[in-house]
Amino acid sequence: MKIDSSQLIELAQKFGTPLYVYNGDMIEKRYNDLLNHITWPKLKILYAMKANYNPSVLKLIHQLGGSLDTVSPAEIILGKKAGFTSGNILYTANNMTDSEVNDVHASGVLLNIGSLSRLEKYGKRFPGSKVCLRFNPDVVAGAHKKIQTGGKLTKFGILLEDVGVVKKISETYDLKIVGLHEHTGSGIDDTNAVYKSIHNLLSIAGHRNFPNLEFIDFGGGFQVPFEPDEERIDYPKLGGEIGRIFKDYCVEYGKDLEMYFEPGKFIVAESGYMLVTVNTLKDNRGRLIAGTDSGFPQLIRPMFYDAYHHIVNLSNVNGNERNYDVCGNICETGDRFAEQRPISEIREGDILSIENAGAYCYAMGGVYNLRAMPAEVFIYKDDIKLARKRLTNEELVKNIIGECE
Ligand code: LLP
Repeated sequence: MKIDSSQLIELAQKFGTPLYVYNGDMIEKRYNDLLNHITWPKLKILYAMKANYNPSVLKLIHQLGGSLDTVSPAEIILGKKAGFTSGNILYTANNMTDSEVNDVHASGVLLNIGSLSRLEKYGKRFPGSKVCLRFNPDVVAGAHKKIQTGGKLTKFGILLEDVGVVKKISETYDLKIVGLHEHTGSGIDDTNAVYKSIHNLLSIAGHRNFPNLEFIDFGGGFQVPFEPDEERIDYPKLGGEIGRIFKDYCVEYGKDLEMYFEPGKFIVAESGYMLVTVNTLKDNRGRLIAGTDSGFPQLIRPMFYDAYHHIVNLSNVNGNERNYDVCGNICETGDRFAEQRPISEIREGDILSIENAGAYCYAMGGVYNLRAMPAEVFIYKDDIKLARKRLTNEELVKNIIGECE
């Protein structure tokens, strides 16, 4: 399922580096894995498009039957252009403005509201409407403290103990609470944390509190192994257990509800590669430094979350390993994709592949230092296409000058 080194080198030569490459077959596999592992017939997968909003990725997920988790009005517009309809989009922005709430409501997309104050304003403005409510699961989990979403120290969701206030507000404005939601964090490798969050949300989700429920949404956060020796969670086991918990809940509720998940990383992380060329080698008194033609604005996860991304020297896969700092071309010391990482010997001109670059890599990118984001190539069933081109320097500058020219 991995794209082999020789094909990646060919793509780098054809399209130039830096270059993102996505493997649609891998995205399809991961989407189907989730469908197969989570044993609840009324399962809906809302792809968290913030992870990777490339239109080819979105179209594939639409073709596979997926729905969308969105967090901004522009995501809704783009999602609709990729084929998704309002009924298959959920809106989970936080700290929403009045005008965006009005626009999203008018577009027919269901809002997922995560604060008492917004719920009150929504009720006043749109009495009698349907709405989904985001609760804070009160569980702290996730691969890094910046991506742990649950617990009282974060800004997300309504506290579980405020369920009584929620009831009062929704009765006052005749709101139909059709869905309940929680999202615990990203890259959760502790299955007990997953069960605990589910239990916590379900503990307040009884028929007496919420008589109009159609679905429960347990967010995203499925772990993906990034390091070579990192184990993958036993997903069939996890999925089976979640199915059992939900079945018991639905029996008590008196109706088989839909179960939603909102995976981002799990669906797209492993599909992506960022290819860079090494153009400058240094030996700083024994410390080897490989300088490349990309930088942290084009793949920020190592610098931002200390994230590990495996790096392969495609041009010398069987060479003897040496330790390298793999650096970018940005004027900052922290501009490193890896520090003292064993990689097969690197020569100037070699092409490196930075792996698991399908989620939150291009999507978190920017043009700091005024270097345009890389092009993106999408491969699916042997079809290779340029899914977005790289702006030329002239185009980049034109975007910046815009109306002021
Ligand atoms: N649902 C909600 C409400 C979310 O906030 C997120 C991610 C997801 C679903 C999808 O989570 P996933 O399955 O991708 O873990 N930039 C970080 C990850 C931030 C996640 C933000 N919210 C990273 O690169 O690790």
